[in-house]
Amino acid sequence: MVELAEPEHAPGLPLLADGELKVAPSVLSADFGALGTEIAKIAGVTDWLHLDVMDGHFVPNITIGPPVVTSIRKCTRMFFDCHLMMTDPGEYLEAFRDAGANSCSVHVEVGETESLCAEMRRLGIGVGLVLNPQTPYEAVAPYLHLVDLLLVMTVHPGFGSQSFIADVMEKLGHAREQAEREGLHVTLQVDGGIDERTAPVAARAGARCFVAGSAVFHSSDPAETVRRIHAAASAAISPGE
Ligand code: DX5
Ligand code: ZN
Repeated sequence: MVELAEPEHAPGLPLLADGELKVAPSVLSADFGALGTEIAKIAGVTDWLHLDVMDGHFVPNITIGPPVVTSIRKCTRMFFDCHLMMTDPGEYLEAFRDAGANSCSVHVEVGETESLCAEMRRLGIGVGLVLNPQTPYEAVAPYLHLVDLLLVMTVHPGFGSQSFIADVMEKLGHAREQAEREGLHVTLQVDGGIDERTAPVAARAGARCFVAGSAVFHSSDPAETVRRIHAAASAAISPGE
C-alpha cells in the first residue's frame, strides 16, 4: 500500500500547491469487483482518486455510496475526491466525510449552493462545486469565493467514455480571471474525455486537475497512462510552449 496523502484536508489550505498538476483517476471505469487491485495499479503515480457517486436521479445511472467509500478507504490513503452527481447531496455529506472522503463536489444545478458549501466547510472537507456543459459560467461565479475546487464538466455527467467537449474551455478562462481578480486559490478541475490529447487543451485553458476514467483504467498500463497524461498537461503549460 502506497501512503501519499494525509486523509484530512486542512481547512483553508489550497488543495493543490502553486504550479502543481494532478491526475485524478476515476474508478468509474475500473473493475468494481476488484477495486483494491485496480487502485493499487495507480497509487504509486498519483495521490488523488476520483469517486463518481450517481444517484439514478440527477443522472440516469447508479454507482456507489458511503459504504463502498468506507471499504476502499481501508486499502489506500489517497486523497478521495468525491464527485456527487446527486439531487440531494446535503443528506449525505456527513456520511461521505465519515466514510473517508477528503473533498466533495456538488453540482450547482441542484441549488442550495451556499448552504452546501457551508456544510462541507463545517465538516472539514474540501469544498467543490461542479457545473455541467450546458450550465453557463455565471451560475457558479457568485460562489467562487466559497470553494476550493471548481469542476468544469467536459462531458454530460452520468457515463464514462464520452468525447471531450472543447467548447466549455472558455469557462476555465472565466474562472481563472475571476480567481486572479479576487485573489482566490481555486483548483480548476476537468472531468470527461480526458486523455493525453485533451489534457493539454484543458491545461492551456487553466485546468490543473485532470480526471481520467476510461483513458486510465481501460489502458494496458494504467500507471504509465497517468504519467503520460500528467506529462502532456505539464508540457503544454511549460515556458517555451
Ligand atoms: C462522468 C464522470 C466521470 C467519468 C469520466 O459522469 O463524472 O468522472 O468517470 O470518464 P472518462 O474519463 O472515461 O470520460
Ligand atoms: Zn466525475
